[in-house]
Amino acid sequence: MLAHTSNSRYSEEERVIGSSASFGTVDELITNHSNFIPKFAKKYLQDLIPSIKENQLTLLLNLKFKTYNPGTILIKENEKNHFIYLLITGIAETISSKGHVIRTLSSGTLMGDISGLLQLTSSETIRSLSYITVLKIPSKLYTRIIYENNVYNLIETQIDSKDFLYKTWLFRDEISQVTMNKIVKDVEYKYYKKDHVFHLDCNKLYVILSGSIKRYICDEYISTLESTDFFNSSIAMFGEPTAFTLISDSACEVMILDPEILKEIPIIRWKLFEYNKRIKNIIQHCETDRNSKFLWKDEYSVHVQVIDNQHRKILYLLNNINNAVQSNNDYSLKENLASLKEFAKYHFEFEEKILLKYGYDIGDHANKHETVLQQLNEIHNNVIKDEHYDRNELLEFLSNWVEDHIIQEDQQYSSYLNSKNIF
Ligand SMILES: [Fe+2]
Ligand SMILES: [Fe+2]
Repeated sequence: MLAHTSNSRYSEEERVIGSSASFGTVDELITNHSNFIPKFAKKYLQDLIPSIKENQLTLLLNLKFKTYNPGTILIKENEKNHFIYLLITGIAETISSKGHVIRTLSSGTLMGDISGLLQLTSSETIRSLSYITVLKIPSKLYTRIIYENNVYNLIETQIDSKDFLYKTWLFRDEISQVTMNKIVKDVEYKYYKKDHVFHLDCNKLYVILSGSIKRYICDEYISTLESTDFFNSSIAMFGEPTAFTLISDSACEVMILDPEILKEIPIIRWKLFEYNKRIKNIIQHCETDRNSKFLWKDEYSVHVQVIDNQHRKILYLLNNINNAVQSNNDYSLKENLASLKEFAKYHFEFEEKILLKYGYDIGDHANKHETVLQQLNEIHNNVIKDEHYDRNELLEFLSNWVEDHIIQEDQQYSSYLNSKNIF
C-alpha cells in the first residue's frame, strides 16, 4: 500500500508506481491471489444499510462484480439509471453540464443511488477515472431492500445535507458515502440574524448554507465568507483559537459539524492543515487601521503565534469599546464589554494552561488574571446598571490593562515558552 503525498515532484520510481493516482489511492505492490472484492462489498453494504439482513446481503453479493476501464460512462446525465453501482475499488468522477462541481468518488460509494431510488433522471454523468470494480445492483432491487429496512425516510432527510456538502471545496473529493453518512448523522442547523457577532470557542466546524459573514482581524476587514465556505476550523481541528472576529453581514444559515469524525478523514485533515497555514500567513501580515486607538505594535509580540493572535483580538474588542464610547452607542458598548469579558476569560485560561503544561510558575500571573476578570465584571455590571457611568475612567482602565497585561506581564513568560520551543 502506498500513501501518496501532496508533493508534486515525484522520483522516477514513484512516478512508475503512482502516476496519475490521486490522494488515497491504493496500489497493489505484491500480487495477492485472495479475492477481497466480496469482503469489501459486504463491509460497504453493512455500513451503508446497517440493518441489512443476511439473506439480503447474500442476494446482493450474488450479483455480478464488474470491472471497467478508465473513461467508461456508467450513468448518463438526464437519463434514468436502471442500475446502481457500488464502487469497490478505483476512482470515478461526476460531470455535469449544469455547472455542478465535479467531484471524485472513492470506494464505498453507491453511484446513482438517489436517482435510482427516486426513479428520477440522473443530474450528473458518472464515469470511471481509473480501472474500477463495482457491484452492479438493479435499481428496483436496491429500492426494495431500502424499503424493507425502513431507511427510506432517513435517506430522504439526509439527501440535501449530503448534496450540499459534496458541492463544497472541503468535502467534494473522495469522501465515500459511508463516511458522508457519518458526517451528516448528527448535523445541526442554526440561523443567525444580520450583525451577529460569533463567539467561537466551541469545538465545531461551521459551513455556511446561505447568507454571508465578514471576517475581521483587530478592526481590519479581511474577507467575506459565503455559501459553501466554512469557519472555526482552527479551533475545531487543531485546538488553536482563531484571531478572526466574525460578524454576519446578512441573515444566514449554517450547518454545524462534529470535528471528531472529520479528524479521522486524511483528506480533510490535509486540506484543513494547508488552509490553516494560509490563514496564519494572512493574520501575520495584517495591518491595523492607523486611526484606531489600540494599535498592534511589534513590541506587543510574545513570540508565540497563537497568543499574539488572541491579543490582537483583545485589541479589536477594545477598539470597538472605544468607538462605542465616542459615538455614545450604549448597545454596542454593552455587547462589546460582554464579548471582552468572555474572551478575556478564555484567553487567560488558555495562557495558564499552556504555561502550566511547560512547567512555568503561574501563581502571580494567574492572580493578576483573576483581578482583571473581577474588574471587567464590575465595569460591565456598572455600565449595565448606570447609564451615566464614567466612560473616561473605563477607557483609562482598558489602556492600563493593555500596558500592564500585554506589555509587561505577558512579556515575562515569552522567553520561557520560546526556550521550550513554543513559538
Ligand atoms: Fe495575555
Ligand atoms: Fe496573561
